[in-house]
Amino acid sequence: MNLFINYVYLISAVLFIFGLKMLSSPATARKGNLLSSLGMLIAVVVALMSNGLDYKWIILGILIGSAVGAYLAAKVEMTQMPEMVALLNGCGGLSSLTLAWAEYHQQPDTSLFIAIVTFLSILIGGVTFTGSMVAYAKLAGKITQKAIVFKNQHVVNGAVLVAIVLAGIIFCLNPGSSFGYVLFIMIALVALGIGVTSTIPIGGADMPVVISLLNSYSGIAACAAGFVISNKLLIVAGALVGASGIILTQIMCKAMNRSLANVLFSGFGSGAAAKSSGQGAQGEIRPASAEDVYYILESADSVVFVPGYGLAVAQAQHVVRELGELLEKNDTEVSYAIHPVAGRMPGHMNVLLAEANVPYDQLIEMDDINPRMDSVDVCVVIGANDVVNPAALNDESSPIYGMPIIETHRARTVIVLKRSMNPGFAGIENALFFNNNTRMYFGDAKDSVQALVAQFKNN
Ligand code: TAP
Repeated sequence: MNLFINYVYLISAVLFIFGLKMLSSPATARKGNLLSSLGMLIAVVVALMSNGLDYKWIILGILIGSAVGAYLAAKVEMTQMPEMVALLNGCGGLSSLTLAWAEYHQQPDTSLFIAIVTFLSILIGGVTFTGSMVAYAKLAGKITQKAIVFKNQHVVNGAVLVAIVLAGIIFCLNPGSSFGYVLFIMIALVALGIGVTSTIPIGGADMPVVISLLNSYSGIAACAAGFVISNKLLIVAGALVGASGIILTQIMCKAMNRSLANVLFSGFGSGAAAKSSGQGAQGEIRPASAEDVYYILESADSVVFVPGYGLAVAQAQHVVRELGELLEKNDTEVSYAIHPVAGRMPGHMNVLLAEANVPYDQLIEMDDINPRMDSVDVCVVIGANDVVNPAALNDESSPIYGMPIIETHRARTVIVLKRSMNPGFAGIENALFFNNNTRMYFGDAKDSVQALVAQFKNN
């Protein structure tokens, strides 16, 4: 039986890995999700068969969990996905904590190794749970999005972390004693506190990075819990989540040209950092009306849409797709340039455009579109700002210097859709708006694009 179970676990692990690989492209992501879910289903069935369990509680748990999951999945908006992921990460962390607790409570294993992985499960699981809840509350606007900071906060956090590690060492040396149990409870409570205190000093706009990091933590906690209950698949699945979460965190930081430490400790995007912008861009802007923009687009051979956060705010994706189709009917080559951190969550623009049924083959990654930019007739920047700011290339004093951008300034004509001259997330001016080849088309992105669609239909 044991051999059979191990083989099935191996098949599940392979399904997880192939599923993860398929998630890297929008075209295969749905199948990847199904494949990974199948792997998990097989693993759950086999895990249930392998133990002499009381099925009554398990079935109740499955029923309640499935009902809550189905309700949330049906109700959640695409734009609320990061919040949903935060909640799910938090549940993962809490599961690892309670699993380790239940095992320890039933019969404390006094071996050093099990004590260490039990400690890691409750520490990382606890931090993940409350950290994710704070991240959720910030993103959902239930608490202030601003970084909540107090004097010497990082020193206090650091001291608490050192204290908890020391408590952990003492616990690992005395896991079976009643003193060990008291330490265990204290560690769990302090871990829950650290989750809160380490997440509140981070600004709301950086929450996507934090959520990705907490996702990684939830995997590491699950991996440790897997060792506690000697479940090989939980170890593998936890390691996969831990590794993929940290890789995604790194990708996001790199795309913003910021270190993880800067994201976690600087309070960026909360006001203070935003004010320290580089040299302000100056000059005259050239406003354009819907009619002006229509004539520019109507005579273009190639148009590249560059969506950003404002597209999500305006929910303009459907009407942009309609404009794209009208342009194609007019024999214009249409594509969409995707910056890896456009918007406020990984894949934000991909998700919005996929929701509007924009064909996948029209989405072009930043590294693929930039070499072609000189030959593009018109770039239409829709609610994007930082990800097209040339200061990232040429202004060493700028906070975004070094961040790769979509180089729209090299296109023949640039049309920028936004409501005002207000800056974006980084809080800095954008010289692109003052270039000779740039026209500013002010207004809410959805209304502006709708006006263009009307122009195409009426002419
Ligand atoms: P931003 O630089 O934030 O600029 C968005 C622009 O959209 C603003 O300038 C705003 O100007 C405009 N806008 C807002 N609502 C609009 C509406 N209804 N209609 C038209 N325009 C509207 O966005 P971006 O270029 O996408 O860059 C993303 C930023 O977020 C980067 O700095 C990135 O580092 C950061 N960030 C991203 C992530 C991820 S994972 N994507 C995570 C954390 C941080 P007006 O107010 O004038 O309209």
